Amino acid sequence: MMKAFISGFGTVGQGVLELIIMKGDVISKYGDLTVTGVMDSKSYDVNDKGICGLSVLGKKKNSGRCGDKDRNGMEGKDILDMADYDVLIECTPTNIEDGGEGLKNIKHALSKGKDVITVNKGPLALKFRELSDLAAKNGCIMRYEGSVGGAMPIINLCRESLVGQKIKSINGIFNGTCNFILSRMDSGMPFQQALKEAQQLGYAETDPTYDIKGIDSACKVAILANAVFGRNVTIKDVSIIGIDTITQEAIALAAENNMVIRLIGEVSETRLNVSPRLIPKGHPLSITGTLNTAVVETDFAGPVTVSGRGAGRSETASAILSDLIAVMKERK
Ligand SMILES: NC(=O)c1ccc[n+]([C@@H]2O[C@H](COP(=O)([O-])OP(=O)(O)OC[C@H]3O[C@@H](n4cnc5c(N)ncnc54)[C@H](OP(=O)(O)O)[C@@H]3O)[C@@H](O)[C@H]2O)c1
Repeated sequence: MMKAFISGFGTVGQGVLELIIMKGDVISKYGDLTVTGVMDSKSYDVNDKGICGLSVLGKKKNSGRCGDKDRNGMEGKDILDMADYDVLIECTPTNIEDGGEGLKNIKHALSKGKDVITVNKGPLALKFRELSDLAAKNGCIMRYEGSVGGAMPIINLCRESLVGQKIKSINGIFNGTCNFILSRMDSGMPFQQALKEAQQLGYAETDPTYDIKGIDSACKVAILANAVFGRNVTIKDVSIIGIDTITQEAIALAAENNMVIRLIGEVSETRLNVSPRLIPKGHPLSITGTLNTAVVETDFAGPVTVSGRGAGRSETASAILSDLIAVMKERK
C-alpha cells in the first residue's frame, strides 16, 4: 500500500486528487494507493486510513478549505509529521526567492526518508543539487516531470526514453503565456494589448512579470540543466532576456524575412539562456498559441521534438500521475 500526502490544494493539488479518484482502475494495476493527508494555506486533513477524496474536493469547492482542522500558524512539517505517508506530492506556489514553504516541505519529507513528487519549480531551480543529494543519501525517489512543460514529457523523455543517447542540447518554448503574446503580435497586435488578452483568457497572471521577463522559462532551463545534463546550476546562472521589449517593428521585420520571434530556452553542457530568437516559419519552434515545445538534439537519434500543454489542472496532474505510477513501480 502506498500512502500519499498532497501539499498545496489549488489548481494542481485538486487536479491530482481528482485524477487519482478517476484513474483508480489504472493505478490499481501497480498496487494500492491511498491519500492520507492534504493541506492548503489555512487548513489540513489527515487520516492514516485515507481521507475521503470526494468530500475533501467538495469542501474545498464550497468553503475554500481542504480540511476542518485549522493550521493556526503550524508549519508544513508539523502537519507532515502528523501523517502516515510514503510519498509527498508538492503543489504549493513557486517561490524563486528562497524556495518558500515548498522547499521546506520537500527537505523535511526527504530527510524522513519519504519519496517526493513536485511540480514546484522554486525548490528545483534554487536547490536542485542539495535536494538530489538528500534524496540519494536517504534512499528516496524524487521526480518532477510536471515542473517543466506541464503535460509535455520532457524530463522523462530525456532520462528514460532517450537513455543511451547523448543529449547535445534542448531548445524549447517553455512558457505558453509568452508564446500566446508573441503569436498575437504576429497578427499585428501591440504587446500591451496581447498581454491584456492573455490576462482576460486566464493565461497570464495579474502580475505577469515572471512570465514576460523570462524568469519562469529560466527556472525550467535551470531544472533541465541539472536533471538532463547533470550540471550544478541555479536560476541565477541563467542569462535571461524577456519579451517585454519586443516591438511590433521587430516582429514585422522578422515576418518580411519569413521568420517569427519566439522566446526560446536553450540548455546544453555549456549554454544556459532564455532569449527571444528569430525562428524560420515552419520550424517546430515557430508554433503559435499556448503550447510548449522542445527540440532535443541527440547524437544518434537526431532531433526529437515533443509538444504539449504546459499548464492546466488536468494536464499538470497527468504529469504527476505518471511520476506517481513510476514511484509505485519502483517501490513494488
Ligand atoms: N497551474 C499549472 O498549470 C501549473 C503547471 C506546472 C507547474 N505548476 C506549479 O504547481 C504549483 C501549484 O500551482 P497551482 O496553479 O495549483 O497554484 P494555486 O492554484 O495558487 O494553488 C496553490 C495551493 O497552495 C496552497 N498553499 C499556499 N501556501 C501554502 C503553504 N504554506 N502550505 C500549504 N499549502 C499552501 C494554497 O492554499 P489556499 O488554497 O488556501 O490558497 C493553494 O491551495 C506551483 O508551484 C506552480 O508553479 C502549476
